[in-house]
Amino acid sequence: MTSVASSPEGISGAAKVRILVVDDEEFLRSIVRERLEIAGYSVDEASNGNEALAILSNGHGPYDILLTDIRMPGMDGITLLGEWVKKSPKTAGIVMSANAELDTALSALKMGACDYITKPFNFDVLLITIENSLRKKDLERQVEDYRSNLERKVKEQTDVINSMYVRSIDAMIKALEAKDYYTRGHSQRVTVYSMAIGTELGIKEQELEDLRRASVLHDLGKIGVREAVLNKPGKLTDEEFAEIVRHPETAVRILEPIPFFRPLLPSILHHHERYDGRGYPAKLSGDKIPLASRIMAVADTFDAMTSTRAYRNALPVADAIAEVRRCSGSQFDPDIVPAFLACQAKIVIPGDVSLPDGFEEAIPRRFPQKPV
Ligand SMILES: [Fe+2]
Repeated sequence: MTSVASSPEGISGAAKVRILVVDDEEFLRSIVRERLEIAGYSVDEASNGNEALAILSNGHGPYDILLTDIRMPGMDGITLLGEWVKKSPKTAGIVMSANAELDTALSALKMGACDYITKPFNFDVLLITIENSLRKKDLERQVEDYRSNLERKVKEQTDVINSMYVRSIDAMIKALEAKDYYTRGHSQRVTVYSMAIGTELGIKEQELEDLRRASVLHDLGKIGVREAVLNKPGKLTDEEFAEIVRHPETAVRILEPIPFFRPLLPSILHHHERYDGRGYPAKLSGDKIPLASRIMAVADTFDAMTSTRAYRNALPVADAIAEVRRCSGSQFDPDIVPAFLACQAKIVIPGDVSLPDGFEEAIPRRFPQKPV
């Protein structure tokens, strides 16, 4: 069974290199151990695969080198390697095989062993094999460190670039709200309503986060609509209406070059589709409309109805709710309207979101809000 050797300082510097020798021949183990200890390694022993794994499980590891025979009673060396790699992937495996077992030794290499040595072996060759295996593992570690460092740096830079994008888009939304007095706060309120509906529907994590971002950005394309059209008090001409209708596509054109926003584009593009297929820009119907767009359609329309616009006064909340209910199955997804009705009474608006006229009493301000 195992015993922890008290060896001199290892040859790899301050840290003592630890080797587990696994062989059913006690005499061979003791010879190998003696020579390795003379060379400065710390050596433990096991007589088969099961015993080696037990040593690892009992907390005697980690080992730098697993030096194992192939043919042993109980668990053989190949099975041991397969199990060992799962538990301790940083160990360099070396198999000791007889000449006749060369094919098996090659199988061991395929299973993750660093090298093999044929019995009987010269101890100098064994020492060189061990050193080479340690170097190989060290190189693997360096490559892995470099890769994970690179990934971290790329992620950091991506986060910086994304936050710059978000800030510039936020500035565009503020510019839009500055020129479109009547929709000031609209994007934020639509976000609050969409999130309430999405949560009611059981949407979670990334999908809910994408819904939030899409809701904030859904009307960004109105930046391309003339101010005189956005704030026109009277009826729009066909040409002016066509200008308004283009805003989802304009938003997509603005956001498309930025990879960070790409997952949001379908839901932004289709937020004016109707469930019955009579919306724009693509006249999609039913489930062909992205779920986030169907949610935003309800939130957007409810906010539009309850806000005073250039061309009409706000509807009372109860009337707006009745209108949403009436349009279930035509303008709106009949599965989403009940979710809106269920959560509507619970919706509260964050303190920093401007409210439509006369809304202050109807919807209290308590809802926490995250930045885009
Ligand atoms: Fe819109």
